[in-house]
Amino acid sequence: MGLIPQHSIDAVINANDIVDVVSRYVRLEKKSSLNLFGLCPFHEEKTPSFSVSPGKQIFYCFGCHKGGNVIKFIQEIEHLSFPEAIRFLAERAGIALEETEEDSQWREKADRKRAAAEALLEAARFYYTNLEGSGGQEARQYLEKRGVDRALRRKYGLGYAPAYGETLYDALRKKGIPDGAMLDAGLIARSSRMDGYYDFFRHRIMFPIIGGYSKVLAFGGRAIRDGGPKYINSPDTVVYQKGKHLFGMPQAISANKRTWYLVEGYMDVIALAKIGIYQAVATLGTALTDYQARAIGRHVDGVLLLMDSDRAGRAAALNAHEIFESIEVPASFILLKEAKDPDDYLNQFGSQRLSASLKVALDRSEYRLELLKMDVNAEIGVPQAEYRNRAIDILAQEKDGVKREIYAGRLAKELQLNVASLINEIDRRRSFQHKGDDAATVTMVPRLVEQKRRRRASSRSVSRELFLLTLLTFDHTLSHLRLCLTEQELKGFVMTDDVKDLLLSDEARRPISFDDFDSDFMRNLAKSAIKEAMTGEISLARLDAAIGNTLARLTEDLSDEEAGSRLAKSADSLHALLIRQHREVTDAKMTKDEICGIFLDRLVYLRMSSWIAAAEQWHGDALELELAGSKEEAERLYAKAATYTMAAETYRMLIQGD
Ligand code: UTP
Ligand code: MN
Repeated sequence: MGLIPQHSIDAVINANDIVDVVSRYVRLEKKSSLNLFGLCPFHEEKTPSFSVSPGKQIFYCFGCHKGGNVIKFIQEIEHLSFPEAIRFLAERAGIALEETEEDSQWREKADRKRAAAEALLEAARFYYTNLEGSGGQEARQYLEKRGVDRALRRKYGLGYAPAYGETLYDALRKKGIPDGAMLDAGLIARSSRMDGYYDFFRHRIMFPIIGGYSKVLAFGGRAIRDGGPKYINSPDTVVYQKGKHLFGMPQAISANKRTWYLVEGYMDVIALAKIGIYQAVATLGTALTDYQARAIGRHVDGVLLLMDSDRAGRAAALNAHEIFESIEVPASFILLKEAKDPDDYLNQFGSQRLSASLKVALDRSEYRLELLKMDVNAEIGVPQAEYRNRAIDILAQEKDGVKREIYAGRLAKELQLNVASLINEIDRRRSFQHKGDDAATVTMVPRLVEQKRRRRASSRSVSRELFLLTLLTFDHTLSHLRLCLTEQELKGFVMTDDVKDLLLSDEARRPISFDDFDSDFMRNLAKSAIKEAMTGEISLARLDAAIGNTLARLTEDLSDEEAGSRLAKSADSLHALLIRQHREVTDAKMTKDEICGIFLDRLVYLRMSSWIAAAEQWHGDALELELAGSKEEAERLYAKAATYTMAAETYRMLIQGD
């Protein structure tokens, strides 16, 4: 980054009007005289919160907080790096960029990629021909035995890598593929005697991993005979990185279905294809990555998780669910209890039963309860109390209140318990749960004391804020610690001077202050805690006492009986939260440096959240001003809001790595 000269960047920005560019992707309407609005292309929404300012030449979404200039927009929407986005826009506007050193590096890399891609394609052809030819008899027999017929082999481009030596190497060389390209593609390796090459895959069934534009990216090879690793896979290369691709992608895309299956292995994709399901992709034995999830998410409305039924598979499924949840793709589980994986299930029970089982999708709680039941049945002599206890824990983590009640009803029936008391117990545990940041602890306090200020309590939690104060009890000198962003660190980020000034200002760099906290309650608590930390007097006991005092002070004027009892409840759950957070840090045996690192990280998060909240407020005010006719003042506030938002996003990106 940064190697494209600034004047070229400026020229590209000037030549690409942001309204023109954005309009190709988003339908914009003029809702106010200064800004255009449309449906945000970066998150699902029904009412427009995506704004474009022709005057400032920036965009900003009030829903997902993405914002920036025209380059940033193209980076986001076309998934390009910064220099790539500049090239994209330069081309669009017909601007010729000077060839920089980086350009020539880039070109060189692009050439290598192209050559490797060609080698991979030729290799896939070679393996395929081999499988169907006379040398492929043993491999074909193996596949026939596993029920993979010719049509399927063709559809997935399966092949066979011959058993000995350097057959692929020789064949590709005859086609004029250079050694370097084959090496780059991970198809051959240098022999230890240093005088030649040998084929990377030998005597294996070959599964090509195919990416966008039908490009062959890599291979997985399955051993035909026992002994040695069952599968070996291409190493990371110039065109392939583990964790970025999935097996079965092009076939799944052409199946044109909005719900896909996610499985673990090559043969599981093939097994589903045998029963006419082509919308299945495999993670290839590693944990699903965010990257892969997004790749799937672009093509689906939902995903069915069909991982192996062993312990690793279950963990993989729950992990995948969490990832899909974070990118707002609905995912549910399918559990094939009686077999290890879909392929085994098909072999044991046949296609009809597999098809039927695929229709039973479970949500997360149902899946976990089902697993629990399996575990309990497998172990001998698990007491019923233990089973009940674990089931209640699972239900307490269910966020959906309706589902919670339904499943509690089922459990009550199964264990012959009273539903009401079961639900009571679930609720009680919810209020103590770590995962329940969104639960009782957090909502109770704001609701009680926060009638005046209406901010979004969801994005900022009491739990997070309290954690910062808890860290002070481990090391009171943290209260003097400054966030210190340097000019050096900002190099390579495109930003306006306003944003840069703000990031380097005292406002960004000052030590923790009560201003960083969201609710009246937390501000008051922070005020006293930080003061104690400054003088070295802070301790867990004092912080705990301060919670009680602060709550009481804030609710003095609400002193009816109901408020009193709610107050006691809030104090109780905050007390429990505090103790738990304290214990977590103690148990983790963190060093001073680690505590300091976490403290800084959280502080940045908090401060930047408060900037964003303030920016939202200003933007709302600006809109009102604009409607009331104060155009200039509105413009000023819009700009301020945009500056703060962008500064906040940049800072977070810096700290967390994008
Ligand atoms: P499994 O061990 O479950 O294999 O690994 P499988 O899919 O059931 O294979 P078959 O049915 O015995 O042929 C699941 C996936 O993990 C990766 C492969 O992608 C495999 O499909 N894996 C497994 C490896 O990469 N290397 C191995 O040695 C084993
Ligand atoms: Mn299998």
